[in-house]
Amino acid sequence: MCRMRTLVLSVNGDRLEVAAPDHWTLLEVLRYRLGLTGSKQGCDKGDCGACTVLLDGAPVLSCITVAALAEGRRITTIEGLMPLHVAAGGRGADPVQDAFDRCGALQCGFCQSGMMLSARALLDRSRDPSRDEIARALSGNLCRCTGYTQILEAVELVAAERAGRAPAPPHWQACRAAPGGAPGAAGSIGSAPGGGGGKGKG
Ligand code: FES
Ligand code: FES
Repeated sequence: MCRMRTLVLSVNGDRLEVAAPDHWTLLEVLRYRLGLTGSKQGCDKGDCGACTVLLDGAPVLSCITVAALAEGRRITTIEGLMPLHVAAGGRGADPVQDAFDRCGALQCGFCQSGMMLSARALLDRSRDPSRDEIARALSGNLCRCTGYTQILEAVELVAAERAGRAPAPPHWQACRAAPGGAPGAAGSIGSAPGGGGGKGKG
């Protein structure tokens, strides 16, 4: 017979009390007690990264993290990314979410929440990461659909726009300009023939 436990968790800025079996993982509590289903249950054994959330700003695999270990820590899930951005003075979606959208950095979307949270953690600790740093930071997040190129470009786009750098070809060829126009871009960023915000390359 399993023992129940009352957890006190800080999730996306809210203090929540939740009762759950004491062996439950953080992913189980988020999805099946709190209804935060943006964190995906993929492999459920630490291999795919779909369940990634942030604990005190660092990515963790919530499917192999016992929920009790998250008490007293700041938990950020994909549901909190935009509200936390707005609470910090930003407008609209977090720039990572915006860039993933503009670059077509998703197809089925199953990996997306984990990817974006890993990217957010990287961009919070590194002002202007290189392509290699981005690839390393996202190496624990598997995507079966996109071929990764647009994902890497989306993260590069956030860093470039934050630095006020004009995106240049051959990068960001699939990325749409920000509303109001990114530097040097009318419809799409870069100089891809035909332009346009394409979907991933399969
Ligand atoms: S579901 Fe957690 S790593 Fe795959
Ligand atoms: S797994 Fe489908 S978009 Fe990444």
